[in-house]
Amino acid sequence: MCQPRSTMAKRHQQSLLSTLTLLLLSLSLLSATPQDDRYQQEQDSPITRFQHYLRINTAHPNPNYTAAISFLKSQAQHHHLQTLTLEFTPNKSILLLTWPGSNPSLPSILLNSHLDSVPAEPSKWVHPPFAAVRSDDGKIFARGAQDDKCIGMQYLEAIRNLQAENFVPVRTIHVLYVPDEEIGGLDGWAKLVASREFEELNVGFVLDEGQASPGDEFRVFYADRSPWGLVIKAKGMPGHGSRMFDNGAMENLMKSVEVMSKFRESQFDVVKAGLAANSEVISVNPVYMKAGIPSPTGFVMNMQPSEAEAGFDVRLPPTADPDLLKKRIADEWAPATRNMTYQIIEKGPIRDYTGRPLMTLTNDSNPWWSVFKQAITAVGGKLAKPEILPSTTDARFIRQMGIPALGFSPMKNIPILLHDHNEFLKDTIYLNGIKVYESLISSLSSYGGASL
Ligand SMILES: *[C@@H]1O[C@H](CO)[C@@H](O)[C@H](O)[C@H]1NC(C)=O
Ligand SMILES: *[C@@H]1O[C@H](CO)[C@@H](O)[C@H](O)[C@H]1NC(C)=O
Ligand SMILES: *[C@@H]1O[C@H](CO)[C@@H](O)[C@H](O)[C@H]1NC(C)=O
Ligand SMILES: *[C@@H]1O[C@H](CO)[C@@H](O)[C@H](O)[C@H]1NC(C)=O
Ligand SMILES: [Zn+2]
Repeated sequence: MCQPRSTMAKRHQQSLLSTLTLLLLSLSLLSATPQDDRYQQEQDSPITRFQHYLRINTAHPNPNYTAAISFLKSQAQHHHLQTLTLEFTPNKSILLLTWPGSNPSLPSILLNSHLDSVPAEPSKWVHPPFAAVRSDDGKIFARGAQDDKCIGMQYLEAIRNLQAENFVPVRTIHVLYVPDEEIGGLDGWAKLVASREFEELNVGFVLDEGQASPGDEFRVFYADRSPWGLVIKAKGMPGHGSRMFDNGAMENLMKSVEVMSKFRESQFDVVKAGLAANSEVISVNPVYMKAGIPSPTGFVMNMQPSEAEAGFDVRLPPTADPDLLKKRIADEWAPATRNMTYQIIEKGPIRDYTGRPLMTLTNDSNPWWSVFKQAITAVGGKLAKPEILPSTTDARFIRQMGIPALGFSPMKNIPILLHDHNEFLKDTIYLNGIKVYESLISSLSSYGGASL
């Protein structure tokens, strides 16, 4: 989605005033929300700092990573955190903030969030998506409010509060801000995870983004599904539209689509019967079909084409056997005997480097899980049954290294609005989340056991 012209023009003007940027930006944004009394009253509070971060437009296709990183760096300086900027791709920096532990030889704790967000269509919003307007009932409207600038700032606020109490972590704590999560992470985590710098962090456990919960329990995610792009192509004899003959390209492709629809139904039936969650089965959804011979008015209607193609979004839970699915594709969905070919675009790993399913254990065999659970309970939080995320996050890159990672965003009693119009987070929920992270950070960073 494109940026509207007015936004582009405003940005251009701002770049002319680059020496005064931060000050001017905050002033102009202040005046953009004149009704917001609480904002005027509290010039610098956890909420206003969150609003400030939300007002930096890091939506694709033109995320302003420079502005976001310079804001976060200034925050880190208040918190006496070490800062390191890694630039594996020009203009796509990764920001690493570090709070050294008293025993830095122990594996560290990593708190991850992404800098970018998906685009927003301002005309469909009740408030401009990058104004972070706070309504009278405490809703803060902004793209990124739930996904996932909330956690990016909550980590810092929790650290600030722990520092104010003179808390000293045993394990080193890293807070990481990465670009490009929303577009696949190829210039973000994919590069970071392969770097010497990452290895040196000696990470033992990671918290990454989760999802809001409409109920009273926090949700936690122990795995993502692995996305595959599947393209199947059929070739066959072309022929007159009036003739019935065997093995036309369209006919062969449609046979495949039928077989795949049956498989899709068998998976969906398990979900409908309540035996598995949506994210626990293999989903296969058609996303495009390409065939036909174009004519000035559409398509030639009396010719059977010699080529036909269809694309599918396929998602595998970590429990699925990718080799079995590949065999099914080769034997049934795009068999060479039907003159079909296929291509699988694997968008990320499905096994970790040791060949184990890409998931973090959520039972007592994983001591980090126990510490996590207790830290939530300690602040009166309840956890829902751990889930597989139906979509995909950067956590897959971390789990591939065999490092345990949980997806968790402390938001409950709120609608799931990620990627939606009018994304918002309530101030009270945001503030409570800071408390939750204080508990998590203090427990995780104090956890002993050098063997981990
Ligand atoms: C990014 O934000 C900064 C600070 O607000 C601004 O000066 C700059 O012009 C922005 N860059 C782009 C490309 O919009
Ligand atoms: C990086 O950003 C700078 C400043 O906006 C711009 O001049 C430069 O062309 C960008 N480089 C790349 C590789 O996009
Ligand atoms: C495969 O293509 C060949 C060559 O065009 C053709 O003779 C044969 O009938 C086709 N078979 C099928 C099953 O489509
Ligand atoms: C934990 O879960 C894994 C995977 O489901 C299982 O193999 C293992 O036996 C479980 N361990 C304990 C202690 O429950
Ligand atoms: Zn996200």
